[in-house]
Amino acid sequence: MTAKIINGKAIAVELRQEIAREVEQLVSAGKPRPGLATVLIGENPASQTYVRAKRKACAQVGIESFSYELPATVSQEKVEELIRRLNDDPKIHGILVQLPLPAGIDGERVLRAVSIEKDVDGFHPINIGRLAQKGREPLFVPCTPAGCIELLKRAGAKLDGANAVVIGRSNIVGMPVALLLVRENATTTICHSHTRDLPGTCRKADVLIAAIGRPEMIRGDWIKPGAYVIDVGINRIEDSTRKRGYRLVGDVAFDEAVDVAGAITPVPGGVGPMTIAGLLRNTLRSAKRSQV
Ligand code: GUN
Repeated sequence: MTAKIINGKAIAVELRQEIAREVEQLVSAGKPRPGLATVLIGENPASQTYVRAKRKACAQVGIESFSYELPATVSQEKVEELIRRLNDDPKIHGILVQLPLPAGIDGERVLRAVSIEKDVDGFHPINIGRLAQKGREPLFVPCTPAGCIELLKRAGAKLDGANAVVIGRSNIVGMPVALLLVRENATTTICHSHTRDLPGTCRKADVLIAAIGRPEMIRGDWIKPGAYVIDVGINRIEDSTRKRGYRLVGDVAFDEAVDVAGAITPVPGGVGPMTIAGLLRNTLRSAKRSQV
């Protein structure tokens, strides 16, 4: 079997076009333009790249972005003071604090300082807590996990009653995507470094989500024939045939998996573009909500 390739890049382009149209409708109706504050602390090159990409995407859909860059040596108090100022600023509808934060900054306290109404990343403990509870609704859902579910649905996966296996239990992807799968009535297993029989557990998955950050760890013979495979990993591996000296691979050995899975996301061009689209959508929603 050759899997259907789930084209996250194309789906994200469609989503961005819809968002751009809605932003223009809002502004033409005399409402304030949606605004996103990006907070980048320290000089992590990957974080700098992600924030740049997020601000560029904002500009493309007509969302105004406001950049705040602080040195890694900034005090906890200064960071929280900035967040409080952004919470009170009516031009700002979403606050994105790029993670990871430098050592010495208490991330939990920073995320808790963000108003839940502006928590477009969905990382505030109240939003995550609501996501975990039956009958409660978070104001925002984390962007990468929401993107995974959207890709599965658009690819035609039936989540109700499916066996879903999530590999990885991070706060940013693994745990929230597992919570979303439970909300979709999937029977959900979360695997991690202490899982005894990882290949055997993966082989039972109708839906497999890999979010571990280990290049090509999930092999083709770990995959149930016909399964839906979502690869969240973005790993650099050396490649002297490329001008830049490396290439990007996922957590799944794509060339093996593509012969077994029913549908699979590529890396790059799968989940990645959906994360930014989700952030734009959350910022637009926040702007609309602030005006009712
Ligand atoms: N670091 C890695 N992924 C994310 C994300 O989705 N949001 C933020 N704020 N930081 C991240």
